[in-house]
Amino acid sequence: MDKFVIHGGKPLNGTLKISGAKNASLPLMAAALLAPGVHRIHNVPDLRDVSTMAHLLRIIGARVELHEHTMTIDSRDCSFYEAPYELVKTMRASVYVLGPLLARFGRARVSLPGGCAWGPRPVDLHILGMQRLGAQINLQDGYIEARAKELVGARITFPVASVGATGNVMMAAAMAKGKTIIEKAAREPEIVALAEYINAMGGRITGLGTDQIEIEGVSELKPVEFENIPDRIEAGTFLCAVALTGGEVTLTNLKSAHIGAVFDSLERAGFNLTVSPEKVSIQAKGRALPVDLRTAPFPGFPTDMQAQWISLMSLAAGSSGITDTIYTDRFTHVAELQRLGADIRVEGNTALVRGVDHLKGAPVMSTDLRASASLILAGLAAQGRTDLSRVYHIDRGYERIEEKLRSLGADISREDEPIVT
Ligand code: UD1
Repeated sequence: MDKFVIHGGKPLNGTLKISGAKNASLPLMAAALLAPGVHRIHNVPDLRDVSTMAHLLRIIGARVELHEHTMTIDSRDCSFYEAPYELVKTMRASVYVLGPLLARFGRARVSLPGGCAWGPRPVDLHILGMQRLGAQINLQDGYIEARAKELVGARITFPVASVGATGNVMMAAAMAKGKTIIEKAAREPEIVALAEYINAMGGRITGLGTDQIEIEGVSELKPVEFENIPDRIEAGTFLCAVALTGGEVTLTNLKSAHIGAVFDSLERAGFNLTVSPEKVSIQAKGRALPVDLRTAPFPGFPTDMQAQWISLMSLAAGSSGITDTIYTDRFTHVAELQRLGADIRVEGNTALVRGVDHLKGAPVMSTDLRASASLILAGLAAQGRTDLSRVYHIDRGYERIEEKLRSLGADISREDEPIVT
């Protein structure tokens, strides 16, 4: 198992290219099942979650290759309609194949994902969506077993906006008979990218980026070439890193329109940003001002940036409250940040952070993807050495993060960690 060794206190300076979005790549890959043929998706990051989805598509029968960030998916010979537990338990986003498999084969057998470090993460809305489109669903032996002779468009009103359920229903409805309307749809850029991909294949989806999406079913979709969007969470994570360490960094190949809430929060925290549509520069000097915030669906502050923001606020000049309204138990990073000297108390779904003068390096452990990012950030700002174990969590969603940080001047290395039994 690998660990990161970080010697904190080095400012970050330079220019960095942002990778393609993980959370868009995964549904785009699943959507390639809708149109038998050879698809090419550009700007796909080389990450563990992407390899897991590629593995799943291969089990289903597709040929998948990733070469220099271009993914080729040949979905002609697919015939297996199952997502096995062994894969789904390692990556919940595997459930994205439910809609495409049902649309293509009229059948799908997808494992229920089970628990998660952030507390309960049900898939009831995915199931509800498929049922509304006419699928028969049985939950059996830990699997969602779905069947539909024909999918028929319907009006689906979600009680909460769900990224995954919106994406899954869009894919299932793309070739359903008639029109589907999703009310309280997710507005996230990753969902817009998925809809644009389906439209490029010949789909008819409107209302992109709004909370009401309309899908006019078509009889056939054709494979295409498509450009994935940049990763807004990777960009936000690097901005917080620079805010913590000080320095001047320019991030390129991003879409500023996707990152507005993080930009606003950093400006409120006293940092200087120069923003253009595909580039942002941050000049950071001194401590952050305390900024309270609540996570919210897009265009609000993303829950996937909550942990990194808590790291930044741990060294702020004052106290702040950070509330997660999406995942109310997503605070496993707090106990690890406390090991570095952070003063944080969690009350319900709010972290009350009292900024301290300095953090001090210590051994800490990754618990999930964004929690790991927050610990790297804290380690970069802490005095002395931080050893971060179980970095396989970070490899799920950040492409070569240690190399990217090193190119900006950070002292971070990957080492083999002996397993102690
Ligand atoms: C996606 C992202 C994840 C991000 C999250 C919220 C991917 C691969 N993952 O996850 O990184 O943190 O959006 O922006 O894109 N819910 C239900 N029932 C359901 C589905 C969701 O109650 O069937 C609830 C969830 O518990 C949560 C809220 O809806 O409170 C939003 O979750 P959702 O948007 O579905 O998250 P994911 O798509 O799983």
